[in-house]
Amino acid sequence: MGSLVNYIYILSGALFVLSLKWMNSPVTARRGVFAGEAGMLMAIAGTLIGHHANWEWILAALFIGTAVGVPIAYIMPMTAVPQRTAMSHACGALAAALVGTAEYYQRQPHADTELVGFTMVALVIETLLGFLTFTGSLMAMGKLQEILPSRPLVYKNQNAINFVLFAIAIGLGVRVILVPTDTWIFPIFAGLSLVFGVLLILPIGGADMPPVIALLNSYAGLSACAMGFALDNKLLVIAGALDGSSGLILLLFGAFGQIQTAKGKTEQRPYRSASAEEAASILEAASSVIIVPGYGLAVAQAQHKIRDLFDSLGKRGVDVKFAIHPVAGRMPGHMNVLLAEADIPYDRLIEMDDINGEFPQCDVALVIGANDVTNPAARTDKSSPIFGMPILDVDKAHTVMVIKRSMNPGFAGIDNDLYYMDKTLMLFGDAKAFVSEILKELPAAVRA
Ligand code: TAP
Repeated sequence: MGSLVNYIYILSGALFVLSLKWMNSPVTARRGVFAGEAGMLMAIAGTLIGHHANWEWILAALFIGTAVGVPIAYIMPMTAVPQRTAMSHACGALAAALVGTAEYYQRQPHADTELVGFTMVALVIETLLGFLTFTGSLMAMGKLQEILPSRPLVYKNQNAINFVLFAIAIGLGVRVILVPTDTWIFPIFAGLSLVFGVLLILPIGGADMPPVIALLNSYAGLSACAMGFALDNKLLVIAGALDGSSGLILLLFGAFGQIQTAKGKTEQRPYRSASAEEAASILEAASSVIIVPGYGLAVAQAQHKIRDLFDSLGKRGVDVKFAIHPVAGRMPGHMNVLLAEADIPYDRLIEMDDINGEFPQCDVALVIGANDVTNPAARTDKSSPIFGMPILDVDKAHTVMVIKRSMNPGFAGIDNDLYYMDKTLMLFGDAKAFVSEILKELPAAVRA
């Protein structure tokens, strides 16, 4: 029986790996979701077969989880995906922490044999990460949904206080590992972990929350991985490690702008601006247009207007594509999610490496709320903080038009040479409002 369960777990682990792989592309993402679901179902089946006792509880959990999860998936709008993800992490992390707590108290009477060395280390890591991820994820969800103030909450000696608190929690964790029979320490250790999760998120603003969610995702995964070691469950080790490492990879991408940030000067140089009417006539005269979406498009919620623009230009015979930069926006896949919400066909969303060769032949590059990901300094200026970052070669298009509200810098806090090129026209305004203006002008332009 044991080996059958192991085979089921290996198959289920393989489905999780395939699921992650397939979720890499919008074309295969649906298959990826089904593979993940099938993997999860097999994992539950394996657990049912392996554990003869209490299987009715597992079935009850399966039904309750499905009854809650399915409506959430249908009701939740695409734009609320970050906070929904934070909520899932909170639930997963709480589950891991509670399992760790239950294991500790259940095994505690036989601490001499059952809570020694490695098992105890795994239990402590599991509960520490689980509890802090639980409260941290709830905080992140509250900030994203604006139930809590989304601005950073800072106070004097914040870092020092956080550090001391974390050090105390670690110290207590070490004490629990060394003397597992001292049961009074465990609730204090768990309580401090919960408080630390809250304090960790307080100083982070809502706009920076998606990379934080990637970090919390990673913590929840590592907590589940530790749980796998504590329970000697290979599937949990695999699934937790996958989750933990994928979260970290997201974070490495997400943190890019943060590390490079150089808030400061923008130069006073001449640039050209244009009206919606002028922009409309340039677009209708073009035969190929590449739209470059960025963070500003997401903030303005302009995706549906962009879809209208795509349709309108398409009817006019203009070839319209979208250039997708991997870190455009504030979370990986941000642009894909937004444009998919507006039902823009997948085959029109072209990844950076594939579209860059097309800019020199393209009549108009229309940049909407994107900044850093179009900055040519990344290619040419060795002193730039973003030097070396792969960018969209927007500056190679025949004409460039940029919709944004001002000459202010983007996330990395640096000026963009693109805006001062002779071929560039700045279109000042909110992305949604300006595209609406262009759309109003377009029918006239088409008839002309
Ligand atoms: P940004 O460089 O941040 O530029 C966005 C631009 O949108 C801003 O310059 C802003 O200019 C404009 N904007 C804001 N609100 C707008 C509105 N309502 N209407 C029109 N424009 C608006 O964005 P990007 O080009 O997408 O680059 C992403 C940056 O975020 C990179 O530096 C990246 O490293 C970083 N980052 C990415 C991630 C991931 S994983 N995607 C995670 C964290 C950070 P105005 O203020 O003048 O309007």
